Amino acid sequence: MSANSFNKVLAIETSCDDTSVAIVGSDGWVYQVASLSQDKDHAVFGGIVPEIASRSHNTSLLPLVEICLQKANLKIEDLDGICVTSEPGLLGSLLVGLVTAKTLAMTFDKPFLGVNHLEGHLLAPFLKDDKYQPPTDFDYPFLALAVSGGHTSLYVVHDLGKYEILGTTLDDAAGEAFDKFAKLAGLPYPGGPHVDQKAKNGDPSRYEFPRALLGKGNLSFSFSGVKASASRMLQSMSGSEIQDNINDLCASYQEAIVDALLQKVEWALKIHFTKKKRTPRLVITGGVSANSRLRDKAESLCKEKNIALVIPPIRYCTDNAAMIGYAGIQHFQRGERDDLSLSASSSSVKFQHV
Ligand code: KG4
Ligand code: ZN
Repeated sequence: MSANSFNKVLAIETSCDDTSVAIVGSDGWVYQVASLSQDKDHAVFGGIVPEIASRSHNTSLLPLVEICLQKANLKIEDLDGICVTSEPGLLGSLLVGLVTAKTLAMTFDKPFLGVNHLEGHLLAPFLKDDKYQPPTDFDYPFLALAVSGGHTSLYVVHDLGKYEILGTTLDDAAGEAFDKFAKLAGLPYPGGPHVDQKAKNGDPSRYEFPRALLGKGNLSFSFSGVKASASRMLQSMSGSEIQDNINDLCASYQEAIVDALLQKVEWALKIHFTKKKRTPRLVITGGVSANSRLRDKAESLCKEKNIALVIPPIRYCTDNAAMIGYAGIQHFQRGERDDLSLSASSSSVKFQHV
């Protein structure tokens, strides 16, 4: 097969607690995606239990591959390659996907490639299906805020494989900060969506929480201060006091996180886009991009500053194999391959920053 004749690939994502399989075309078309969230398995423990995550991937993955192929009315023989998230993530979880992808690649004699999970998140806006497509003029370069349970980083995405990191979190990820607050406030896991829901009926200015900006123009993030401040506040309140004020607490805490995220975005746009006359485009991706306050405030900011905002639909923002398939097929097209000795890595090895 020539380097650029990849029409469709099978993609597998098992880096954390979502098992996902997709069939994706080189233009970003998602033929099919089949996913299973493990939220219920971990909820009783109030957080992700790595051993449970890998066992659950193990039982769900092959049935999902079958469902995905069946729904797309395709066979593995019809596909041009197999790609899989090989980093970063929980090692046991990554290994389930990696071993399965290698076995399929070997059995069906297909080209094989490991994909970096973060690269998948950054390229998610290019995905397309019958309900979503990026704006017609959407292209590189763009500013990307990748914000999830495991990551909070700002990048300039110059091109495929050219990712300039502007700032990342010095401690917790924003999603983690949402989840830990929710746990302290007695809300179910994962807490982010519950905080978002309660906050809709709350007053964001009722409680004062710190926004760790780390100095003007600093593009790193830090959420340990807001988390510690909330922890002290909640410990000083009785259970019934927390319950009675839960909406205001959630709204105020959420506001502090959203303000910190968007302040960094605003600075990054100013430093890296306006002065260099690049087309200002902003992508927000990762599970926290589902947050309604973040979406609303990002929309207002972009409207005011005349910036094109692209937030992929939630199904492509949370962990999913479609984004892995898109990143994978782009690299396949360039002639890149991995051999079957590729290892999983809990940190990023393949992801090269410019
Ligand atoms: O991208 P994702 O599905 O998995 C990771 O790679 O982490 O993101 C999950 C994170 C969790 O921390 C969850 O609480 C958070 O995204 N999240 C939200 C919302 N929906 C999901 N955080 C705030 N508001 C939401 N609506
Ligand atoms: Zn993720």
